[in-house]
Amino acid sequence: MNTTTTTILIFGASGDLTRRKLIPALFNSYRKGRLPENFHIVGFARRPWDDDEFRELLHEGMLEFAPEAFTAEKWSEFAPHITYFQGNLDTPADYDHLPTYLADLENGPVNRLYYLATAPEFFVPIVKNLGATAMADEVDGWRRLVVEKPFGHDLQSAQALNQAIHAVFAEPQVYRIDHYLGKETAQNILYFRFANTIFEPVWNRNYVDNVQITVTESVDVGRRAGYYDQAGVVRDMFQNHLLQLLSLIAMEPPTSFAADAVRNEKAKLLQAIRPLPLSDTVRAQYEGYLQADGVAPGSQTPTYAALKLYVDNWRWQGVPFYLRSGKALARKNTELVIVFQKPPHLMFDAIADADFSSNVLSICIQPDEGIHLRFEAKAPDSTRTDSVDMEFHYRSAFKGNSLPDAYERLLLDALRGDASLYTRSDSIEAAWRLMDPVIQGWEQDPQSPPMVAYQTGSWGPAEAEQLLQHDGRAWVLGCMEHAE
Ligand code: BG6
Repeated sequence: MNTTTTTILIFGASGDLTRRKLIPALFNSYRKGRLPENFHIVGFARRPWDDDEFRELLHEGMLEFAPEAFTAEKWSEFAPHITYFQGNLDTPADYDHLPTYLADLENGPVNRLYYLATAPEFFVPIVKNLGATAMADEVDGWRRLVVEKPFGHDLQSAQALNQAIHAVFAEPQVYRIDHYLGKETAQNILYFRFANTIFEPVWNRNYVDNVQITVTESVDVGRRAGYYDQAGVVRDMFQNHLLQLLSLIAMEPPTSFAADAVRNEKAKLLQAIRPLPLSDTVRAQYEGYLQADGVAPGSQTPTYAALKLYVDNWRWQGVPFYLRSGKALARKNTELVIVFQKPPHLMFDAIADADFSSNVLSICIQPDEGIHLRFEAKAPDSTRTDSVDMEFHYRSAFKGNSLPDAYERLLLDALRGDASLYTRSDSIEAAWRLMDPVIQGWEQDPQSPPMVAYQTGSWGPAEAEQLLQHDGRAWVLGCMEHAE
C-alpha cells in the first residue's frame, strides 16, 4: 500500500472555498515541493463545466485571492493536474462512473483524500455514496475524509453525523477541520507553553486571575445571512473556534505531540468545563442586522456573545474564563489574554492598590501575530510605576517568512496522515454539550438574558463590559495597543 500517487477529490468544487482557500493552499504546497510526487485534483460539482473551464475559474481565483504566490510558469505546471467531474452530490447514479473515471486517471494504486467543501446537507449523501461505491475501502492505499464545518447544528445532529460517517469511514480516516487550529499562532500556543520552562509553572490558579478570549470581526454577515441567521455566533464561532482556542490555552501537557496524545488532553479539558448558567452569558445583535438580505423578520439570532466559564480541574479551579466574539465590530482582532494575579504584598506607598496593573500576557492570533507581556516598571524620576510592554512580532522576528494560510498546513497534514490539528468526534460532542443548553435556553426564554443591540463599529454592548465589571474585572486588549 505504499504508493506515491494521490488524488484529492473535492466535493462541491464550484463553491467559494475551493477557489478562495483550497486551490491556493494546494498550489502553494506544490510550489514548495510538498505535494506527493504524482497527484490529481478532481473537482466534483453540478455545473456543466469541462476541465479547461474549471481550471480557468481556479486561475481567476488564484489571481483574486492569492496573487502574491502566483506565477504563470508554476501555474502552467500545476493546472494540468486538475480535472473536473460533473455530477449531483446527492444523486447515487452520478457516482456510478466515478470509480472508473478515477481509475483511468490514476492508473494504478492510489491514496485518496475526499474533501467535503459543500453545504452540510450534502455531507451524509456524499458519505453514503462513497460507501456504496466502495470508495472508502483502503484496498491499494489510504482513503481519508476531510469534513468542513458546521459539524452538526447541535449535539444530536453532530452525533447523527458522526454515526453516518462512522458507518463508512473509521475514525482514524476522518479529519474534521477547524481552520483556527491551522493558524500558525494557534499552533504556537502549545510551543509557547511546552517548549519553554518559564511560563508553565505560573499557568494555573495560583498565579492566574482570569483568562480572556476575544475574537472580534469587523465584517458583518454580508452575503452569508442565509446560513448565518440559522446559525448565530455561538454555533458559528464559539462551539468550534473559541472552544478550540480555549482547549489549547488550558489543556494539560500531552505526553507527546502525537495526534491522539494531544487530542486526548483537549477532549479532557472540554469535558471539564462546568455547564454555565445563562446569567453568565450576554447575547447581542448589531443594529441593522434585521435589514440584511436573507435575515428573517424579527430574527433573534445573536451576532455577538460573551460568556463566563469555569474549568473544574485542579489547575483552573476558581479561575474565570471570559470569552467574547461578534461581527460588525470595531476591528478584526483575535487575542488570548492571561491576566495574572496582583503581587501578594504591595510595598510601594505611592501606588494605591486599585491602580496597580496586573501582569498581562497577550497571545495575538491575528492580524498582528505575536505575543506581548505587560509588566510594571519604575517610571524614571518618580516613585510611580508604569506599565511597559515586552513584545514579539512574527513579522519582525521571522523576516522573510510569510505565515502560511491555515489551509495549507491542514491539507498537508491530512495528506501526511497527521490528525493532531483536526478535531476528534469526542471534542466536537463535548463542545456541543456545553453550547446546546445556552442556545436552547436563549431560544426558550427571551429574558435569559434579553437580546441587546450594539452599534456597528463599536466594541460590542455595554452588557459584555458589565459581565466583567460585576466581578471587579475588565476586558484587556494587549495586542492592538502595540501593533506593528
Ligand atoms: C468561519 C465563520 O468559520 O470563520 C465566519 O463561519 C468567520 O463567520 C470566519 O468570519 C473567521 O475566520 P478568520 O480566519 O477570518 O478569523
